[in-house]
Amino acid sequence: MEERRNRDGGSFLNVALPKGRLGEKVYQLFAAAGFECPAILENSRKLIFENPETGVRYFWVKPSDVAIYVARGAADIGVAGKDILLEYRPDVYELMDLGIGKCRMAVAAPEGYQDDPARTLRVATKFARIARDYYAGMGRDIDIIHLNGSIEIAPILGLSDVIVDIVETGTTLRENRLEVRETIVPISARLIANKSGFKFKRAAVEKLTAGLGGVEK
Ligand code: PRP
Repeated sequence: MEERRNRDGGSFLNVALPKGRLGEKVYQLFAAAGFECPAILENSRKLIFENPETGVRYFWVKPSDVAIYVARGAADIGVAGKDILLEYRPDVYELMDLGIGKCRMAVAAPEGYQDDPARTLRVATKFARIARDYYAGMGRDIDIIHLNGSIEIAPILGLSDVIVDIVETGTTLRENRLEVRETIVPISARLIANKSGFKFKRAAVEKLTAGLGGVEK
């Protein structure tokens, strides 16, 4: 199949956007930086949108999948949370901190929980590598309980002692009577690029990063 071309006969800049609220904010930033694609604002179930005028092709993917598309070259660039980059360590360039999607990775426990450092700590999390690295750094023995969501329930039901999870406003913790014990690392959304795509589409990527640098967040 012949590759579709943009207005100037070049290839499109393929951008993987994280589906959801963060992705919509990211699109607004990219549009302000000169990569508009008004069709994306139509309320449809379509997942791929392109604008030959600005030479951009966007696709919506699950936030935790963005780095997979970019690492394998199905997307030239994308936006992924630092949490995903730390957890999965995809082979991509991290070009820029977009300063949005800010939250933190933290250890939380039920209110009043007393830790016994002599015991193996049971840690429920979606982020096994981040948790393992964090506790390895302090020489603490842990037992990882890998869950896929609703992590806050684990210590309430006695499945774990603590959790390692993302805290944004803190509401989920509060409403489940948990509290932050330690902050592991601050998180925000990062612009990432495929390593070879970056060489071939350097001009477009640089236009984007320069534009993003000047956009009010
Ligand atoms: C994340 C995280 C917390 C919540 C924190 O959940 O796992 O549950 O957001 O936000 P808050 O501090 O503002 O309350 P997410 O929506 O990604 O769902 P899941 O982890 O249950 O899949």
